[in-house]
Amino acid sequence: MENKPVIADSFGRLFPYMRLSVTDICNFRCTYCLPNGYWKTDSASAFMEQAEIVRLVRAFASLGVWKIRLTGGEPTIRNDFTDIVAVIRDIPGVRKLAFTTNGYKLPQRAQSYYDAGLRAINISIDSLTPDQFKKITGHDRLRDVLEGIQKSFEVGFKDVKINTVLLKGLNDEELDHFIDFVKDKPVSLRFIELMRTLDNQSYFNEHHLSGTIVKEKLLRRGWHLLPREDGAGPALEFKHPDSKGTIGLIAPYSKDFCKSCNRLRVSAKGDLHLCLFGEGGYSLRDYLQSDDQIDELQEKILHLMNFKRSAHFLHDDNSGVREHLASIGG
Ligand code: 5AD
Ligand code: SF4
Repeated sequence: MENKPVIADSFGRLFPYMRLSVTDICNFRCTYCLPNGYWKTDSASAFMEQAEIVRLVRAFASLGVWKIRLTGGEPTIRNDFTDIVAVIRDIPGVRKLAFTTNGYKLPQRAQSYYDAGLRAINISIDSLTPDQFKKITGHDRLRDVLEGIQKSFEVGFKDVKINTVLLKGLNDEELDHFIDFVKDKPVSLRFIELMRTLDNQSYFNEHHLSGTIVKEKLLRRGWHLLPREDGAGPALEFKHPDSKGTIGLIAPYSKDFCKSCNRLRVSAKGDLHLCLFGEGGYSLRDYLQSDDQIDELQEKILHLMNFKRSAHFLHDDNSGVREHLASIGG
């Protein structure tokens, strides 16, 4: 298919990639995100319906967005998750459908995710020790999640990534274990620096660890930084000749992180977030109510792009207005 012009912002960055949350709800209780679990009871009906999601994706795809990642909360909690996938995969312009999951029920469901049309999967694993995994997520599910990774390969997923949030005192002693884990698996394991949110300030102070220690360790162990591919997002990617897998590093507090920003986010309630840490979102909901609003919706999106700022302001101890990342999918 012919390439469409891709949405740009006023700093010349292009946005071929949308992260679309389909629910805020999550069944895990990761200590840095939802330590008390998801407890709001009134909002399930406030999330976009399938028809609204389809209109949204049509508009973004017609503006050149070709990669879509479904996130949450835990996106697979939605009963109609695979239905949504099966509908949006046929929208003209959509070339790659990915999702982020905590791996819950992955062994049982990997096949149906693949059959629905998903081709890339990001699985969160913050510890490779069952007890510690349970402490961090509130669930004794490490074995299931690992089995889910295996199953994902078996059913045909070729793009499997693991997200690991770096946590001082909780998983920093496992770095070698994580690095060895990818040796015989064609996965990319990404260490993500803990991000400060409104809800986790004291946790952040206690557990934040700079990604520099990962970088130094990798270089010491003979890993090398891969050249940045065109259109790659903000992750740094490392490779080792003896390892099938790669190791990535996502360090939002590092200099120039935002220069390679290539993504837009839409919350489950239909708010466009120009930055993970930006000010509140801009609601697109009024433009999602009928199929004939597509022109208006496109105009609105293009107009809002003017407000995208050059960088986040985390360095000023500003955590934006984000209570936690479950509402926007990390
Ligand atoms: N800092 C860094 N990563 C986070 N995630 C959720 N909250 C945070 C945070 N405060 C990550 C999850 C998951 C992805 C969806 O976002 O661990 O890997
Ligand atoms: Fe759920 Fe992800 Fe938040 Fe963990 S980090 S509680 S899996 S939304």
